[in-house]
Amino acid sequence: MRKRRRERLGSAVAAGDSVGAYNSFDIVGDIAVTKIPPESQTKAADIAKAIMSRHKNVKAVFTQTSAVCGDYRLRKLTFIAGEKRTRTVHRESGCIFAVDLDKCYFSPRLLGERQRIFKMVAPAEVVVNLFAGVGCFSILIAKQVPSAKVYSIDVNPDAFQFMQENIHLNRVPENVVPLLGDAKAIIESRLQGCADRVLMPLPEKAMEYLPAAVSTLKPSGGWLHIHLFEHAAKTEDPAEKAKQSVTDALYSLGVDFEVPFVRIVRSTGPHFFQLVVDAYIFPS
Ligand SMILES: C[S@@+](CC[C@H](N)C(=O)[O-])C[C@H]1O[C@@H](n2cnc3c(N)ncnc32)[C@H](O)[C@@H]1O
Repeated sequence: MRKRRRERLGSAVAAGDSVGAYNSFDIVGDIAVTKIPPESQTKAADIAKAIMSRHKNVKAVFTQTSAVCGDYRLRKLTFIAGEKRTRTVHRESGCIFAVDLDKCYFSPRLLGERQRIFKMVAPAEVVVNLFAGVGCFSILIAKQVPSAKVYSIDVNPDAFQFMQENIHLNRVPENVVPLLGDAKAIIESRLQGCADRVLMPLPEKAMEYLPAAVSTLKPSGGWLHIHLFEHAAKTEDPAEKAKQSVTDALYSLGVDFEVPFVRIVRSTGPHFFQLVVDAYIFPS
């Protein structure tokens, strides 16, 4: 899908002017977020014009001018063209997500992973989402599996506010419980031993929060979905490396487990990958 979009824009831009085959951008709601390389910065306005003429629904174009950083996983956005606002409403898999891209993390590139996870959730499961952002995983699960209960945690007050708004917009107030604060502190104070499944969609912290995640699971066991980064040289398999990292960490916690599934979520740079590891923890 992304590949097709890239090709279309590439030819549109190259045909009409000197912008070249610029092709790296995401569309969130009606806002396009580009990554313009330094050598193309002078063409930013032309690139924005090309995006807007090709994607009529796009009303604003920003360029990302910093890496995603900090506890809230935010990136600096610089306005290029269109309406000067960062708030938008994104539609995905039958859900509506309001978000301010300047204040909250959001990535349409996690769509495939969000869909993979909700399909695994069984009726009446209790799910804990440790790093929920504006609530995408949590709300999609609640919409698709109405008998599930999802505890949805985020430490960013803005993301929490949008999560509350999105719970209301998607009419799932009965089965998504929004919680503001540090995931570890919330688990310790109120979510011990209650979950069938724990989502950890924050590769920077998932391994550090693994003991807390394990303590969230019911004594009857359950699933952990652990995101992490791996570097893999040409001769190495990133999936094997990720599986080994999680295996070592779970061994050190003394739990009985298996790791039946690993997949690359996306490539984050040459030889760098974001992966998700599914681990099943057996009854304690
Ligand atoms: C990569 S984003 C997750 C995005 C979300 N799952 C989605 O699908 O859009 C990670 C989120 O974790 C939150 N976060 C970071 N540290 C946290 C902590 N200690 N406890 C709870 N949430 C935290 C950030 O505010 C951010 O919204």
